[in-house]
Amino acid sequence: MAPFASLASGILLLLSLITSSKACSCAPPHPQTAFCNSDLVIRAKFMGPPEIIFNLYQRYEIKMTKMLKGFDAVGNAADFRFAYTPALESLCGYVHKSQNRSEEFLIAGRLRNGSLHISACSFLVPWYSLTPAQQKAFSKTYSAGCGVCTVFPCSTMPCKLESDTHCLWTDQILTGSEKGYQSRNFACLPRNPQLCAWQSLRA
Ligand SMILES: *[C@@H]1O[C@H](CO)[C@@H](O)[C@H](O)[C@H]1NC(C)=O
Ligand SMILES: *[C@@H]1O[C@H](CO)[C@@H](O)[C@H](O)[C@H]1NC(C)=O
Repeated sequence: MAPFASLASGILLLLSLITSSKACSCAPPHPQTAFCNSDLVIRAKFMGPPEIIFNLYQRYEIKMTKMLKGFDAVGNAADFRFAYTPALESLCGYVHKSQNRSEEFLIAGRLRNGSLHISACSFLVPWYSLTPAQQKAFSKTYSAGCGVCTVFPCSTMPCKLESDTHCLWTDQILTGSEKGYQSRNFACLPRNPQLCAWQSLRA
């Protein structure tokens, strides 16, 4: 009975690992949403392959070059040396593909127990893949919208604004070179305390 029970629970665990891999197909957010929903946003370089630290968990050694968000939580002098993530992709673990230690990344992660945690769903992209306007927005502009304005995704027409503090995000229904246009060029920012609107990052 006992061996059968453990075999059965092993199969169940395996099945849940397989099915949970679907849970990680996360839709990319607008960068402002990623910024606002993260505890920590930093620029950093990855120093090598991950190191297993305990069961099903691993960490990447990183070299932080700049902190863009999180000062209130961790102070101005904080320096993160590791990014923690589940060891399996099926558990939403982040897998770093680049081996270039000089390449700088934008990492939007969570703060847990004073440590930086990332997952496959984290907004994590090469810093130089962002447009100069987006780089500036991550450093300055987006924070003005956090807690006030909401980038509201619209995936099927017609879309309706549900609040004056929402900005309709229609990148999902655009195609070709238009795709990502709002993500690259606009932030949803307060016009006055009751009203938010898209504003050009170039302004
Ligand atoms: C590594 O990244 C740096 C900075 O982005 C870049 O200048 C360099 O060309 C890259 N090296 C390789 C081998 O891709
Ligand atoms: C946070 O740290 C405490 C004490 O070191 C530990 O007991 C707890 O499990 C940790 N929590 C997480 C989520 O790692």
